[in-house]
Amino acid sequence: MELFRKINELKSVLDADRQNGLSIGLVPTMGALHRGHLSLVDRAAEENDRVVVSIFVNPTQFNDPNDLKNYPRNLDKDLMLLSTRSCDYIFSPNVEEMYPEPDTRKFDFGSLETVMEGKFRPGHFNGVAQVMSKLFAVVEPHKAYFGRKDFQQYSILKNMVNRMKLPVQLVPCDTVREADGLAMSSRNALLSKEHRMVAPRIYQILKEAQTEAGNLSPEDVRRHVIEKTNSVSLLRLEYFEIVDELTLQEVSSWKEEGVKVGCIAVFAGSVRLIDNIVFEK
Ligand code: PAJ
Repeated sequence: MELFRKINELKSVLDADRQNGLSIGLVPTMGALHRGHLSLVDRAAEENDRVVVSIFVNPTQFNDPNDLKNYPRNLDKDLMLLSTRSCDYIFSPNVEEMYPEPDTRKFDFGSLETVMEGKFRPGHFNGVAQVMSKLFAVVEPHKAYFGRKDFQQYSILKNMVNRMKLPVQLVPCDTVREADGLAMSSRNALLSKEHRMVAPRIYQILKEAQTEAGNLSPEDVRRHVIEKTNSVSLLRLEYFEIVDELTLQEVSSWKEEGVKVGCIAVFAGSVRLIDNIVFEK
């Protein structure tokens, strides 16, 4: 396992690998790694000759300066965790290396970014697109691995890759959860004991919604989720939407074509958590 801080140094090693016909898998992260991230690394190792894990807390995707400041960082622990997996290269650049000058590019994802995360975190997906287009250009991976937990992020990046005709295949990976159902997230480390205790309610409420979907309309299911979440005194709902998997637009009937996904964002104290669930037909 080798750690790279500089783009050129990583590039020259990867160029040699590619010339030797080796396939390259990329797992982009912001560090504070947990089993969710590691499941992506394991999947990448199964499907590629070389695995690159990037660890970079990308400032341009944080719409809240406090969130950026408080975001957990622990490179030594991350390196230790990765040393237990089949990871070949770690790319952990500093901000100057990734952004020698401000990135002024504006991406337009149309209606994909005016809902949910895009609506409540203005500029967030533009920052994600900025950093991911750079990481794709640096690493030139054959495949890149993303968690379904960040469902809208995956949709937006798929759209970017298709439109820019980037030669990379995106692989969506299932959400890894704690034993009590809470979706693993780097931000879970920031939860107080009390908030950590109630946070599993989020996934329980999503599971209950999945059951209710057999008898109730999407609008009624949505109303129940909103009421239940807000009845937990330490949780504050930001949104819950039932959307079409491809368009990310709200569905009004279960009979509509396509897969439906219930997406939720909740504040537990000052920590913002997201999760989602697929409604099986
Ligand atoms: P980060 O939040 O560190 O997540 C890195 C990757 O791990 C993402 O693809 C995310 O969906 C996935 N992931 C997070 N929690 C997971 C879980 N519980 N189970 C499975 N996968 C999980 O997402 C980002 O970083 C950034 O936006 C990034 C894409 C790196 C761009 O900066």
